[in-house]
Amino acid sequence: MLDKIQQVALDIEQWQITDKESLEKFRLAYLSKKGILNDLFEAFKLVPPTEKKAVGQALNQVKQAAEALLKNKTEELSQAQEMGTGSELDLTLPTAPFSVGSMHPLTIVRQRITQIFARMGFNVEDGPEIETDWYNFGALNFPDNHPAREMQDTFFIAKGQKQSEDVLLRTHTSNVQIRLMERKKPPLRSIMIGRVYRNEAISARAHCQFHQVEGLFVDKNVSFQDLKDTLYHFAKEMFGADTQIRLRPSYFPFTEPSAEIDISCFICGGDGCNVCKHSGWVEIAGSGMVDPNVLEACGIDSTEYTGFAFGMGIERITMLKYGIHDLRLFFENDVRFLRQFTGA
Ligand code: DAH
Repeated sequence: MLDKIQQVALDIEQWQITDKESLEKFRLAYLSKKGILNDLFEAFKLVPPTEKKAVGQALNQVKQAAEALLKNKTEELSQAQEMGTGSELDLTLPTAPFSVGSMHPLTIVRQRITQIFARMGFNVEDGPEIETDWYNFGALNFPDNHPAREMQDTFFIAKGQKQSEDVLLRTHTSNVQIRLMERKKPPLRSIMIGRVYRNEAISARAHCQFHQVEGLFVDKNVSFQDLKDTLYHFAKEMFGADTQIRLRPSYFPFTEPSAEIDISCFICGGDGCNVCKHSGWVEIAGSGMVDPNVLEACGIDSTEYTGFAFGMGIERITMLKYGIHDLRLFFENDVRFLRQFTGA
């Protein structure tokens, strides 16, 4: 019996396993139910007790060797298959082209704006794009049926019982100011970024959707000087250290006094060019001191707190920064346009 086992051990060692078929043949010959090893274990039952120990050991060794061989070869073959063996692997072939994407210019500018204001202690707040008239207009001190509402052509979605319950697509991010002031009490120092919608004909200068960033700072003793300093710092960080700002009196229902913010034209340095329409200045934001009526509508005591707010179009900032002349390019997803923007 021992001789026989030795012979089987030798056969196993010399067995050629080169592919899946020979592997399977090997398994059937040795390790299946009808295989040689099973026969040997059957025969083992008849071995006289004095030989049982030696024969048993030899038999177990052979079985282990067969199992180890099966396992190793199975792994070897499946690895070889993954890597591709022999002639089908051509190392001289060029690799598949790997194209690296780039960020959308609006994303780049949005991130930069967030960064600049974050360093001044502003956090980012969010709010809904589908809004009621109250949050988009009423709480912002637009009286019912007041012509100021027509400054912003609105997409209405549903009529409410009262005007304040009409449902619409927000026309500006100022709705988030109201939601924020309702939810949290001062001190508040936040920016709010998002998409806004207006019922305008699409052209190089106008679109029915665009993005705004809103800023709100409410605390005790917030002054107009704070507004000016904040926006001056922003302008220098965004457009370069030499940038100047100027404020022009303006009107928004939700701020009093209100001002339009211009920056010195960084393209011509103030000498006059197409971008600044030969004035040396370009407008970047609307702003003002939060109207006491707005604070009160949100349950904030306007005798104790004051605040400033501002709002600007992200497309506008991006167009100025990169010299883009057509607003529609932002929404067309033409990769020839998009791939030009690789970083800051
Ligand atoms: N909501 C204004 C608009 O869309 C922009 C704006 C102006 C926002 C002045 C403000 C602000 O917060 O104080 O035209």
